[in-house]
Formats: sequence, structure tokens, C-alpha cells
Amino acid sequence: MSRPKSIVIFGGARGIGAAVARRFAASDFRVYIADVLETEGNALVRELGEDRASFTICDVARADDISAVFDLAVAESGGIDVVFNNVGIARYGEVDRLDLEDWELTLRVNLTAQFLSCKRAVAEMKKTGGGVIINTASILGHASQKTTAAYAASKAGVMALTRTVAIDHAKDNIRCVSISPGTIDTPLVQIAAQTFEGRDPQDLRREWADHHPLRRLGRPQEVAETVFFLASEGAAFITGSDILIDGGIRSELYAEKPGEPAQ
Ligand SMILES: NC(=O)c1ccc[n+]([C@@H]2O[C@H](COP(=O)([O-])OP(=O)(O)OC[C@H]3O[C@@H](n4cnc5c(N)ncnc54)[C@H](O)[C@@H]3O)[C@@H](O)[C@H]2O)c1
Repeated sequence: MSRPKSIVIFGGARGIGAAVARRFAASDFRVYIADVLETEGNALVRELGEDRASFTICDVARADDISAVFDLAVAESGGIDVVFNNVGIARYGEVDRLDLEDWELTLRVNLTAQFLSCKRAVAEMKKTGGGVIINTASILGHASQKTTAAYAASKAGVMALTRTVAIDHAKDNIRCVSISPGTIDTPLVQIAAQTFEGRDPQDLRREWADHHPLRRLGRPQEVAETVFFLASEGAAFITGSDILIDGGIRSELYAEKPGEPAQ
């Protein structure tokens, strides 16, 4: 009897990661959710069913925590088909004000953790004949915004890591792809909108939406559909690429102001 398909999701308790967990659970994957948010993670497992999903508390800044998630998935499912490295944090500041600690934490959580996860994923996937690794980068890995030096550098690093894993392990039947979302309507963005003093969060989200040619924020489910496709046989010739899911924002050099007629 063939073993059930499995996916490990780092940063799967809410937002994009939770949408990906729902999408894969709906397609009979066994879903291993790893996150620092215990309440949200356990609630998601109850929603998906304990026969479909499990939650492990995991801080990706700790190598041992990452290993423990792989250990569980391999012991239960006999191998791992898909790994989604999705944890991302942001620390803001112009470089002369950005603390070294914030820089190092951002690189550790956003980039080094993906390296550690890729390292173990490749080792496990080699044993079972292959698999797919999907890493979350960002539109900010392509073009920057003020005060995002640490985040932008980490996300550009994710794309470089992805390309190299892809070419090193094509021979092992392992594909590695990154995704670069534009602004997606997740708790991360909702919380960010509430932290701007003197600004109405709804106005701010409208403004962010208007920066995208499609004039709206992306939905976590839309990212999940792309991730599901990238993990599927339909994407068998895609590796090393970064896939923009950005409502067109990367394509426009000078955004027209909302209300201006299109030229
Ligand atoms: N939402 C956006 O607009 C957007 C845009 C571009 C890229 N991204 C990227 O997409 C990914 C998901 O973002 P989101 O918007 O769903 O964010 P989110 O904050 O809603 O979800 C991120 C998840 O990662 C978890 N996490 C944070 N630190 C962790 C750690 N040290 N160890 C384990 N888990 C940890 C959080 O608890 C959360 O569940 C991130 O990598 C983010 O950088 C998001």
C-alpha cells in the first residue's frame, strides 16, 4: 500500500500558511503544521480533523525545533512530499537606526531557517525518490520599500537559496520554487495597518490595495491555490523560479494615483 502524501508547513497557524494547510488537507494530504502560535495552530487542527493534520509548536529560529517537526512527519508518514517554508517577520528601520539584533533575527527567521529546512527536506526527499520545496519570498525581494533593509535582504536571499537548491537537487528529482506575494490580506497586514499612528486602518488598507494594478489586496486562498499548483505534477517543469502573486504591482514603474484616468 502506498503511503499517504504529506506536507510540512512552517508558519502554518494563520494567514497564508493556514490557507495552504486548508488547501492541501482538502486534497487528502496529511498536513504537519509548525508555528509559534499554539492556540491558532491547535484550532486549525480541530478544524481540519486530527486524522488530516497535526500541530507542533516550533520556533524556526531554533534548529532543534525544525528537526523535531521533520522527525514527527517522517515517523508518522514515512516520508515528506512537500515542504512549505513560509515563516516571515519584519523589523523596520533605516540602516543607521536598525539594530544588529533586529537584522540578525530577521535573517535567522526568514532565511537561515529556510536553509535548515531545505537541508533536512532534501535529505528526506532523497530517501523517497523526490519532492517539492516551496519557499516564501516577497515582492520586497524584487524591489524595496523604505526602512525594509533587513526584510528585503532576507527575501532576496530566499530567492537565491531557492535557485541553488533547485539546480543542486534536480538530479534527485527535487524541485524547489519560491513565491513572491504582493500585499495579501492576512493578520500580518491587518496588524501592520493598526500600528500606524493617526491613520485609520481601513483607509490604509485601501491605500495599499490601490498600489496594485488590480486595485485590491490579495487573498490568502489565492496564494494557496498557486502553492498547490506548484506542488502538483502540472508544475513538473518548474524549478528554481520565483512566482509573483502580486496583483501586477511588480509590473508598474510609476503607479497612477487612484481616481486618475489610465493613460
Ligand atoms: N501578507 C503579505 O502581504 C505578504 C507579502 C509578501 C510576503 N509575505 C510573506 O508570506 C509569509 C506569510 O505571511 P503572512 O502574511 O501569512 O503572515 P502571518 O504573520 O499572518 O503568518 C506568519 C506565520 O508565521 C508564524 N511565525 C512567526 N515567527 C515564527 C517563528 N519564529 N517560528 C515559527 N513560526 C513563526 C506566525 O506565528 C504566523 O502564523 C511570510 O514569509 C511573509 O514574509 C507576506
